[in-house]
Amino acid sequence: MKKTCYLSMILVATIFLSCAEKPQSTSDVVNKTILSRRSIRKYKNLKVSKEMLDVIIKSGINAPSAKNNQPWEVRVISTPGLLEKIKATGGNFYDAPVLIVIANDTANPYGEFDCGLLSQNIMLSAESFNLGTCALGGVARAINNNTADAEAIRAELGFSPGYKTILGIALGHKDEFPEAKSRDTSKVKFID
Ligand SMILES: Cc1cc2nc3c(=O)[nH]c(=O)nc-3n(C[C@H](O)[C@H](O)[C@H](O)COP(=O)(O)O)c2cc1C
Repeated sequence: MKKTCYLSMILVATIFLSCAEKPQSTSDVVNKTILSRRSIRKYKNLKVSKEMLDVIIKSGINAPSAKNNQPWEVRVISTPGLLEKIKATGGNFYDAPVLIVIANDTANPYGEFDCGLLSQNIMLSAESFNLGTCALGGVARAINNNTADAEAIRAELGFSPGYKTILGIALGHKDEFPEAKSRDTSKVKFID
């Protein structure tokens, strides 16, 4: 009897502690996701499911933007034909199975900034599925080139007038696990 009572007390205490810890562990998941994200430059030859892509894009466009103007347009490309054309113009996306191309409204003073927030949301959402990403300024430069091939790619992407490609994001199943690069903590000062 005494033993049963003792065990019940342990059970109640365990349930109480696991409930009490929940809020802390939820925020911990976000921090762990942020800290585990790395630029991935090697991908498995595996498709990314449409369900995951839908969640990733939903998270992307949930980013804040000045006056909620959402000054972005996004293309999620997984067709080998278009990917091949982008690669041929010099846009290196490390043969990821998915390339996301983001264009900003050049007339919006916060356009680039807001696209940065959208991009980071996309990369962190992908990381939460353990998918790899890499932000790609080089892809944007290749797409914006003044060549007939780049112009044909821009026509296929079909961004609205006034929008210009600002960033590519490679996305796929990771085939490498690089160490974190160092960060300069001296750039931050606490004034208290
Ligand atoms: C705006 C931007 C453009 C980038 N362009 C490229 C690129 O063209 N090619 C590439 O391999 N990595 C590119 N990167 C990835 C950076 O090199 C990488 O984020 C940085 O070295 C820090 O490493 P980490 O992402 O693993 O923390 C870019 C990152 C940002 C934010």
